Amino acid sequence: MSVLVFGKTGQVAQELWSAHPEYIYLGRDDADLSNPETCAEAIKTLKPSAVINAAAYTAVDRAEEEEELALLINAKAPEAMAKACAALSVPFIHISTDYVFDGTGKDAQSPDKPTAPVNAYGQTKLAGETAIRNSGVKYAILRTSWVFSAHGSNFAKSMLRLSESRSELGIVADQIGGPTPAADIASTCALLARNLKTSGTYHFSGAPDVSWADFAREIFAQAGRDVTVTDIKTADYPTPAKRPLNSRLDCASLMSDFGVIRPSWKHGLAEVLKELK
Ligand SMILES: NC(=O)c1ccc[n+]([C@@H]2O[C@H](COP(=O)([O-])OP(=O)(O)OC[C@H]3O[C@@H](n4cnc5c(N)ncnc54)[C@H](OP(=O)(O)O)[C@@H]3O)[C@@H](O)[C@H]2O)c1
Repeated sequence: MSVLVFGKTGQVAQELWSAHPEYIYLGRDDADLSNPETCAEAIKTLKPSAVINAAAYTAVDRAEEEEELALLINAKAPEAMAKACAALSVPFIHISTDYVFDGTGKDAQSPDKPTAPVNAYGQTKLAGETAIRNSGVKYAILRTSWVFSAHGSNFAKSMLRLSESRSELGIVADQIGGPTPAADIASTCALLARNLKTSGTYHFSGAPDVSWADFAREIFAQAGRDVTVTDIKTADYPTPAKRPLNSRLDCASLMSDFGVIRPSWKHGLAEVLKELK
């Protein structure tokens, strides 16, 4: 099976590479997603048996200023990839986000809950989903949340960095979601690439759901850092892009269709801390 992965340097792509060095990986120099046609050309030339798109414009706050570029990378490029996959009749695995929802309510959100992004990043990711569904490809769209790993930038690494200089931190406690180890997203994408029979939109996040503040407390506890975390409200931490308060994802259909259970993010965190040592 020759699987082609877009993204080489990202959190999920790095984990895919660790587990599947036999896949083909394309970085920005090989296929620039801001030029979608190069992505389609790469698929036409390499003729893979499946494609995983692990690349995206992920700078949530900057997307408010660069929505056109984010739209090219998060929607137009995946659309071109999906159409090229459809022409070859090969499955397309694409990663999306909890930010396609407005985050109202307190229940876990199912894949068929109506979408309503509250920021530009979420709008561009939703446009990508819609384009893939309309492309005629056999697809899996995997929505995930709060990704962390030993690579790249993420909340866990930011907390570790801040713990070098701070003994007290105020962290948002009214946004709730599932921190998700990139390694588990990678293994789920690989499984979907092998076993996808029909198109579907799935949710996948680490368990249990927590606030950012409680996630931070666990990071400091596991890393042995003496930092006191105080709960603050989203309103007390203004950012250029609005964030949904409810990021809980109902992952039941991934379990019933593929036997994939929600991974323990505490276990995933322990693995990441070990890797960072
Ligand atoms: N991070 C999260 O918390 C989170 C939450 C929910 C969903 N997701 C989704 O999960 C997926 C993986 O996210 P991640 O955290 O692994 O991403 P990431 O670490 O930010 O990596 C993004 C990847 O996309 C590549 N990329 C960006 N612009 C590109 C371009 N114009 N041409 C080619 N490659 C480009 C980057 O390459 P360079 O290194 O060259 O820039 C990098 O390899 C994405 O679809 C994201 O939307 C992420």
